Amino acid sequence: MQYYNNPELAERFGVSRHAVTNWIDQTRKGRLTLELVRDGANTYIAKTPRNQLIMQTLVQERRKFMNKRSLKIARPRPEFFQLFSEAQVIDMIYSLDKFREIPRQYDYLGDGAALWDEYMHRQYEDDVPNMLRQTISLLEANRGYIDQVISRHGRINIVDIGPGNALPVKDLLRHLIGVGKLGRYIAIDISPEMLAIAERNIKDWFGDAVQVEGHVRDISREWFADAIACLPAEDNVPAVNICLFLGSTLPNFRAPDDALRNIVKSMGARDYLLSTTGIDSDLGRERFQFAIGDVESKPLPPQYKLVVDLLGIEQDYYETEMGFDEREHARYLRIRLKHALTLEFKLARGDYRLDLKKGETLLVWRARHNTAAEISEQLTSSGLNPRLISQSDDHDYMLVFADLPRQER
Ligand SMILES: C[S@@+](CC[C@H](N)C(=O)[O-])C[C@H]1O[C@@H](n2cnc3c(N)ncnc32)[C@H](O)[C@@H]1O
Repeated sequence: MQYYNNPELAERFGVSRHAVTNWIDQTRKGRLTLELVRDGANTYIAKTPRNQLIMQTLVQERRKFMNKRSLKIARPRPEFFQLFSEAQVIDMIYSLDKFREIPRQYDYLGDGAALWDEYMHRQYEDDVPNMLRQTISLLEANRGYIDQVISRHGRINIVDIGPGNALPVKDLLRHLIGVGKLGRYIAIDISPEMLAIAERNIKDWFGDAVQVEGHVRDISREWFADAIACLPAEDNVPAVNICLFLGSTLPNFRAPDDALRNIVKSMGARDYLLSTTGIDSDLGRERFQFAIGDVESKPLPPQYKLVVDLLGIEQDYYETEMGFDEREHARYLRIRLKHALTLEFKLARGDYRLDLKKGETLLVWRARHNTAAEISEQLTSSGLNPRLISQSDDHDYMLVFADLPRQER
């Protein structure tokens, strides 16, 4: 009868040679029912379909046992439930379950806001081109055009969607105050802490000349027309809104079109949208400027770690990976689990368990790369009418000034 030699079996079933010898011993002792073959002084496992089946079962059971032994349990910390509403927790569970992704916006809450503020101050001081400096220069370079458009209106309200620490809008606000055109300054952000930082900065720069109205909204799920509508009953002089969407926020969304549609739905017929975004480039695909900690440092940079930590996923449960995904056309930062992991959420409506396998990845950040034409097309297909498109000298950043198409008025 034909038989397997032990190294061949070990290779085939992905087990050690010792495990194969052990199967033979166990069979001799009557604990397993494998069919054995003697050849000279040695004993081997016969090459039969039945033996194959028994060995497959043995391997599967061993895997289950090993997985169970190395299975980790993560339970979100109490601060997680203090910081996030139940709806946000469910959103995170759904996103983890469906897409293996932690929605990026939640990292801006709590301590995440101060980390972003610190990052922006570093960008402001930096002399190499970066998103903040390019946004400020593009706003400056196109001021003449913006002035010409707003000269036809009375007061201009600035609606800052995702204002960060408000540094990008500082010069524009100063200009509008100077020409006596500034109406309301309305900031829309998912993070109350970020809104507080923006308000503090604006107060420091302009004192009482600007009253900050902050509204907590998640633009991936909600609109905000009620917060920004220029209703004639409120304003004798008709005002219009310039909605700012600055700093390449859109490419971070899993579904950017959802966010854009919520913005467009919230705009009034005469409102404008002014956005700044990075443009795809070879150099940009390698750009990983994280606020703190250099790109190669293995632990996640702090501002991408907030939710991971709050979820109770400990640092030695995962490895950090980053790169450019050619299929998605996006830079990514993700964690790869070194162990099978169960996430246990205790919610008011009951417990939720999420089982993750060893080797699975959880995405913590993405930045999609689009060409200038794709960015313009994305705005158009969301119902906007790009009127002005302007690029930085290095072609890495783009400003779009858009309104709503005439037929919609
Ligand atoms: C990439 S930063 C850009 C900040 C600023 N506009 C700039 O150019 O520096 C993203 C900003 O949008 C906010 N944000 C991110 N996702 C959001 C969402 N889904 N809803 C509302 N605000 C969000 C963040 O809190 C932060 O203020």
